[in-house]
Amino acid sequence: MSAVPAIEVRGLRRIFNVRQGLFAPPRQVVAVDDVSFAVPAGSVLGVVGESGCGKSTLARMILGLLPPSAGDVLVDGQRLSDMDRRARARLIQPVFQDPFSSLNPRRRVRDIVAMPLMAQGNISRTEMDRRVEEALSRVGLSVEQGSRFPSQLSGGQRQRVAIARALVLRPRIVVCDEPTSALDVSVQAQILNLLAELRRELGLTYLFISHNLAVVEHVASEVAVMYLGRIVETNESEALFADPRHPYTRALLASVLTPEPGLGVPDVGLGDTMPDPANVPSGCRFHPRCPLAFERCPIEAPKRTPYGAGFVECHLAETAAAN
Ligand SMILES: Nc1ncnc2c1ncn2[C@@H]1O[C@H](COP(=O)(O)OP(=O)(O)OP(=O)(O)O)[C@@H](O)[C@H]1O
Ligand code: SF4
Ligand SMILES: [Mg+2]
Repeated sequence: MSAVPAIEVRGLRRIFNVRQGLFAPPRQVVAVDDVSFAVPAGSVLGVVGESGCGKSTLARMILGLLPPSAGDVLVDGQRLSDMDRRARARLIQPVFQDPFSSLNPRRRVRDIVAMPLMAQGNISRTEMDRRVEEALSRVGLSVEQGSRFPSQLSGGQRQRVAIARALVLRPRIVVCDEPTSALDVSVQAQILNLLAELRRELGLTYLFISHNLAVVEHVASEVAVMYLGRIVETNESEALFADPRHPYTRALLASVLTPEPGLGVPDVGLGDTMPDPANVPSGCRFHPRCPLAFERCPIEAPKRTPYGAGFVECHLAETAAAN
């Protein structure tokens, strides 16, 4: 395992200015707030949290699709901001949730898969065909399926096309944002197994976003739990699931999960009050929903307390660590 992390994120922040009416003053939404982590090569970092907590914003910054308001993303030790689009594409590729909208319906599968190669330029037709066939075969699609249009494929096959497109440049890192959430439950396992197999065979590193904790537990070697733009707990997957320390992580693990896509984590057992990222609570941002909140919580933001291989942002963890 290389000493340089495949992905390193330092103090990453993203603010959106949102106007809710023509004359209303813009409000600031802090979608990602001071996020830092490092993902070793060959690992899978699972990112979980309710809808709107900033998972996709984080993913888009790591993919270079959205400039950060502050902080740095390093991919394989190189600053993303120092790379041009083509260099970035050779290192890191996305697989998004919805294979129905992310594939151009007017192009044949093999042309969709060839797009990242074409964007690199300087490649012969023969080499391109060879690489496209290799990518299709890696994801279990035939040459014949390569000549179809996306509408002629099933949901699972379309997601295989999206994965083939992500792999065709032989990247080191794949950012998967809810890659199975739009699929039938029976197909989800096939796609997850494929992603796991590809990781082993190709030595890939994944950032794996999912609202489904069972999926994250299955695929991730490390987990980061996000709440209102911050990582409030992170640890090795096994440790985090066996011994969650943050009250929010505990609520998530106790939550009733539904397989419906796009619902985030629908019932975290903390009431319906969805947190508002344009109006972040004082002190510990989780305090209005925290069953363990005490006097200090609304006043003072908790520090990151090291725990296991990661950290917890909760005053109770600070106290436990001091004792
Ligand atoms: N382009 C944008 N302009 C303004 N606000 C945005 C934009 N993109 C995201 N946001 C806001 O940033 C916050 C985080 O959104 P994000 O999509 O990253 O959440 P998420 O965790 O991916 O949610 P989900 O689980 O629903 O996909 C939300 O409040 C969202 O409304
Ligand atoms: S700091 Fe307080 S409010 Fe925040 S999670 Fe810990 S106990 Fe709950
Ligand atoms: Mg999202």
